[in-house]
Amino acid sequence: MTAGRVAVVTGGAGALGAAIGEHLTGQAEVVLLADRDLDGARERSENLRGVEACYLDVADDESVQALVETVERRFGRLDVIVNNAAVTAPRGMEALRRDDWERVMAVNVWGPTALCRKAVPLWSSTRAGGRVVNITSRTWLSGGPIAYTSSKAAVVGLTRSLALELAPFGVTANAVAPSMVATPFTRGDRSEEEYAAFEAKHLAMTPMRRFATPEDIAHAVGYLASEAAGFVTGEVLHVCGGAQLAPAP
Ligand SMILES: NC(=O)c1ccc[n+]([C@@H]2O[C@H](COP(=O)([O-])OP(=O)(O)OC[C@H]3O[C@@H](n4cnc5c(N)ncnc54)[C@H](O)[C@@H]3O)[C@@H](O)[C@H]2O)c1
Repeated sequence: MTAGRVAVVTGGAGALGAAIGEHLTGQAEVVLLADRDLDGARERSENLRGVEACYLDVADDESVQALVETVERRFGRLDVIVNNAAVTAPRGMEALRRDDWERVMAVNVWGPTALCRKAVPLWSSTRAGGRVVNITSRTWLSGGPIAYTSSKAAVVGLTRSLALELAPFGVTANAVAPSMVATPFTRGDRSEEEYAAFEAKHLAMTPMRRFATPEDIAHAVGYLASEAAGFVTGEVLHVCGGAQLAPAP
């Protein structure tokens, strides 16, 4: 672990965010699980040394500003941002309303953009470098639920653009694209039957014949967040058991 390193994981109350946060304790002194579900983030941080919960709504600029100000005041540095918070919306185009679309884009795309924007003055003043890891999804490649998938493709574009914009500050930006992890997020509004069929399709299209685990994703994020990955930027790391090579279910 590098002394004093500070990491923020958005959506830290969720299944993947919590696993990523726990994994990052191996390389950061403080890990903030930042979520609009503060109670959930508190539960996840209980009994984890170096892990703290804090409130954040990534779609609310004032909340993002408040988080960065708190980090600056308390620690004077921000070494790792993992943009993991996300929401989804009705799957088919017919059921989708404009405000669903706008909510998904606000959380999944504007959220990571806003957080990185607010961190720039800190990175620019400390010149200590940093790591941004954005969580996208295999769907960016294969297609999927329309608003969610569009947002995750935008996250790839965002990542590649951030890599260019942040390089002068010694900050890398990469993305991790998981395939299906069995979490409440994946279950969404599917009935028991629909979900069983969905799971079966995913297993059939995954050459490694299993789902991803939160730990699979956390390890990939850990590498991209580490000091060892300082010359890797603008990449998308698929953690999919080969499913990124296969057609969509
Ligand atoms: N679970 C999967 O199969 C899967 C597959 C591919 C990609 N992903 C991606 O992984 C990430 C985490 O997914 P998960 O399965 O852990 O989902 P999850 O629903 O368990 O966690 C998401 C977290 O984000 C938080 N959140 C939502 N809106 C927020 C906001 N405005 N501000 C702050 N926090 C907010 C939620 O409160 C929740 O704790 C997401 O980016 C998701 O798109 C998940």
